[in-house]
Amino acid sequence: MNKLKGRDLLGLADLSAGEIQELLHLAAQLKAGQINLRCNKVLGLLFYKASTRTRVSFSVAMYQLGGQVIDLNPNVTQVGRGEPVIDTARVLDRYLDILAIRTFEQKELETFAEYAQIPIINALTDLEHPCQVLADLLTVQECFGSLTGATVTYLGDGNNVAHSLLLGCALMGMNVRIATPPDYQPDRGIVEQARQIAGRSEVTITDDPVAAVKGANVVYTDVWASMGQEDLAEARIPVFQPYQVNEQLLSMADSDVIVLHCLPAHRGEEITDEVMEGLRSRVWDQAENRMHVQKALLVSLLGAD
Ligand code: CP
Ligand code: NVA
Repeated sequence: MNKLKGRDLLGLADLSAGEIQELLHLAAQLKAGQINLRCNKVLGLLFYKASTRTRVSFSVAMYQLGGQVIDLNPNVTQVGRGEPVIDTARVLDRYLDILAIRTFEQKELETFAEYAQIPIINALTDLEHPCQVLADLLTVQECFGSLTGATVTYLGDGNNVAHSLLLGCALMGMNVRIATPPDYQPDRGIVEQARQIAGRSEVTITDDPVAAVKGANVVYTDVWASMGQEDLAEARIPVFQPYQVNEQLLSMADSDVIVLHCLPAHRGEEITDEVMEGLRSRVWDQAENRMHVQKALLVSLLGAD
């Protein structure tokens, strides 16, 4: 746990496989009530995009550890009025113990990390959503007992969630298949990074949703237009329709397949109501796990009292 003290989490590959395994183990212990850790520190939340799960799960996790949370809404802080990030970062560094940021550009997150000494956590950028995927890995581990060798198929847009999933699966020795419309494939640099990490496990990028789902243990989807892309949402619907997670597509997967969605979901678009509410869906456990895994992350980056 001490290995992570003082570090940043800007992308999932900032962690090694062993460090992820330790975080998941700690999260499982915290979830089961087997240990009770205290961390009387102050977490800042600087979110330029909407959030329910990330905001609330980080806040509750910090409160349960005995710490405090400050919501640095950009609408009421000077950074939202144009105060330079390099100035804001150095000032917040003097007040806070740790800062979670949700923004657009990965570069902005990196600038915060460069100018602040405190741990900076990526709470979602256009490039990655590492905290989400840590919770996803915990959910898969709970369902199947282990991660190694499981096949995870992601259908939809090659977005931030797809990127962190690629890296997370590659790190943990899982097979990962990303099926997107041809013009919506994940970032090439991230795919290359995942392939280098993966070694012998599968990293497949395809436009064929049926082939991708065959034999999958986990089928995962996310919105077809992410925050900041709202204007593109309607035009994307017909393009993405073949990638909808529905009963017909799921019948091609492994008989024990589970379905994940990071939420919020657009029922009737990337996932049907039937699948969301169906027996294979693990989306509520997945959402709950955000809190346990982020509690483990906070206490690991900050150290327990
Ligand atoms: N999955 C996720 O990050 O949800 P929020 O946008 O509600 O935080
Ligand atoms: N890809 C989505 C994830 C939301 C949690 C977005 O960035 O809006």
